[in-house]
Amino acid sequence: MDSNTKDLPKLYDEAQDFMPLFGTDYIELYVSNCKQAAHFYKTAFGFKDLAFAGLETGMTTHESYVVVQDKIKLVLTSPLRSGTAIGEHIEKHGDGVKVVALWVPNATKAYDEAIKRGAKHYMKPTVEEDENGSVVRSGIYTYGETVHIFVERNEYTGVFLPGYKTWDSGYHPTSTGLQYVDHMVGNVELGEMMTWCNFYKDVLGFAQIVSFDDKDISTEYTALMSKVMSNGNGRIKFPINEPAEGKKKSQIEEYLDFYEGPGVQHIAVATEDIIATVRELQARGIQFLRVPDTYYDVLLDRVGQIDEDLAPLRELGILVDRDDEGYLLQIFTKPIEPRPTLFFEIIQRKGATSFGKGNFQALFEAIEREQELRGTL
Ligand code: FE2
Repeated sequence: MDSNTKDLPKLYDEAQDFMPLFGTDYIELYVSNCKQAAHFYKTAFGFKDLAFAGLETGMTTHESYVVVQDKIKLVLTSPLRSGTAIGEHIEKHGDGVKVVALWVPNATKAYDEAIKRGAKHYMKPTVEEDENGSVVRSGIYTYGETVHIFVERNEYTGVFLPGYKTWDSGYHPTSTGLQYVDHMVGNVELGEMMTWCNFYKDVLGFAQIVSFDDKDISTEYTALMSKVMSNGNGRIKFPINEPAEGKKKSQIEEYLDFYEGPGVQHIAVATEDIIATVRELQARGIQFLRVPDTYYDVLLDRVGQIDEDLAPLRELGILVDRDDEGYLLQIFTKPIEPRPTLFFEIIQRKGATSFGKGNFQALFEAIEREQELRGTL
């Protein structure tokens, strides 16, 4: 959805929904070198230049590049000096997601409703203005040091937010077919999954749509529990994972150790043609987790008839799962920074509304092979 439109869709009933959300507005990552990160997201993932803020625009504390692909906006931010909150965040967590921004009709009301329901304050409703109009933003904490910023841009016609100017570097790699954020997953500490599911239920009005427990998802060594929270119109889906007891360290514990607390584990982005997208991403150097080739020997017995040929799925390592409503194709990148923390998922839905539970066993075994190489199992 184009978030710069003045003709806002009527996607909610104000009387019924205390926290109407139009969708994800942007995702902001705090990174140690935003200039190089922007180049990476353009070159490897096919994002395009959108906006810039820094010394040249009067921003003296930090620099941000905004890159866009279809409806996905990533903001990449680095500090310009020592002793900043952004720098401290990077020192503690490494590169990672700081902000999951939610597009709302009224950022003041969203903030007031969330605070009233027990959210922890991050940013009071603030009006930002330039010659293109005004935007109101406010913010609350979610798990760890991750925050949600509510963005009200009803009257704004500028490129991104006030204070940003158009960025055109002259370098324009082609898209890889990524369209929108399908879901974003948070990892929280042992015993905290329900705390954060209840946060999304009580503070943001979400409902639980799926759950897995350690019987669904476990290997000899590792296990996790997961519940998926969704907002009313289904545009925002946040699975929450917590580690479960296994013989050795689970991938969720590994994440928590290296991120030094809870945070965003993966960003799942949708494509209409996963074979073309993944072929392009692999050609551009993105590395994916691979399951053993034997996965494909029994795949069609497990998921039944699918439109795609098996050969390219096997060649590229794309996974398939089916639920009552259809099937989905998905694949997971390796971590995209030095610490084994944040990664991306590429997903194509063909009716299925679930998250690939049938692939978890094979994936966990693949992740454990990677953990073994890192010596963190
Ligand atoms: Fe996912």
